[in-house]
Amino acid sequence: MGTYLEGKSIAITGGGGGIGRAVALACAAEGANVVVADYGVSIDGSNPSSEVADAVVKEITAAGGTAVAVADTVTTMEGGQRIVQTAVDNWGSIDGVVCVAGILRERMLFNMAEDEWDAVIETHLKGTFTVFRAASALMRKQQSGALIGFTSGAFAASVAQANYSAAKGGVVSLVRSAALGMHRYGVTANAIAPIARTRMSANVPQEMAENGDAEDVAPMVVYLLSDKARHITGQIYTAVGGKIAVWNQPREIRAMYTAGRWTPQEIEARLGGTVGQEEMPFLAEIEARRAAAAAASAPTPS
Ligand SMILES: NC(=O)c1ccc[n+]([C@@H]2O[C@H](COP(=O)([O-])OP(=O)(O)OC[C@H]3O[C@@H](n4cnc5c(N)ncnc54)[C@H](O)[C@@H]3O)[C@@H](O)[C@H]2O)c1
Repeated sequence: MGTYLEGKSIAITGGGGGIGRAVALACAAEGANVVVADYGVSIDGSNPSSEVADAVVKEITAAGGTAVAVADTVTTMEGGQRIVQTAVDNWGSIDGVVCVAGILRERMLFNMAEDEWDAVIETHLKGTFTVFRAASALMRKQQSGALIGFTSGAFAASVAQANYSAAKGGVVSLVRSAALGMHRYGVTANAIAPIARTRMSANVPQEMAENGDAEDVAPMVVYLLSDKARHITGQIYTAVGGKIAVWNQPREIRAMYTAGRWTPQEIEARLGGTVGQEEMPFLAEIEARRAAAAAASAPTPS
């Protein structure tokens, strides 16, 4: 048993499966007391069960660690409160929360139903808020703590997952706002954009350019939860296989000015020269893929 997180109480949502399970096991292996919070749902969020959270708690205790299961949903304020309170009731504090829980409802924007939008936003974005909200109130009093959200590279854009992309973009903004608002209280907030082979990534139609195991993501989370990372806040880190990368912070990069108010005609004349557009890497990528597919299916001249 390691000691990197010794004495810390950490709650991990989605801790019953995939990346969350790997994070829960890694935290416990480093001496943390762990709340394994998982609603035990299928990939689209249906059919809840308490089995997966219980199974991970059994794994942790069998390995000599300390853990408690909460088979609650993160989508309600009560659920978020219960997850955090379970750590406090059992071990007296909440030192870190890791919001990994997530679902998928893939659909093109023009076909997406209201419930497909709501369920995904509710699980990822509200589900991070409910836990951050409960934890931050206690961490503010403690003057310490680590909030960790889970986003995705898809926050930048997604073809058939506008709901998921919007939720993950929301998580990024929530994390940055938490970093800003909680800084004076000694509380950090960061996000992980993982890639790993799980049941969720098995659902993605195209082959991932980079991939790895859920266990590859866990060490970065453990580091961010530790006392060694108290100076790191407001950051988004990709973690995949042997790679860790940091994302940029959004900022204005080019501006143009007029004395008074712009007319559309003046904008038309000048926008391309100074401000222009920023390339969308994903758009360039799918255009290239489309062109390659069109070339491959074009009849070969006889
Ligand atoms: N796997 C990847 O390559 C990948 C890529 C980008 C982002 N992510 C993100 O990483 C996180 C983990 O993904 P994963 O691949 O391990 O998925 P997974 O489907 O294997 O695990 C998700 C877990 O969340 C739980 N969950 C779902 N809804 C819940 C709710 N309302 N309350 C509590 N628990 C709930 C599920 O029961 C499940 O155990 C997700 O937020 C996902 O969006 C994963």
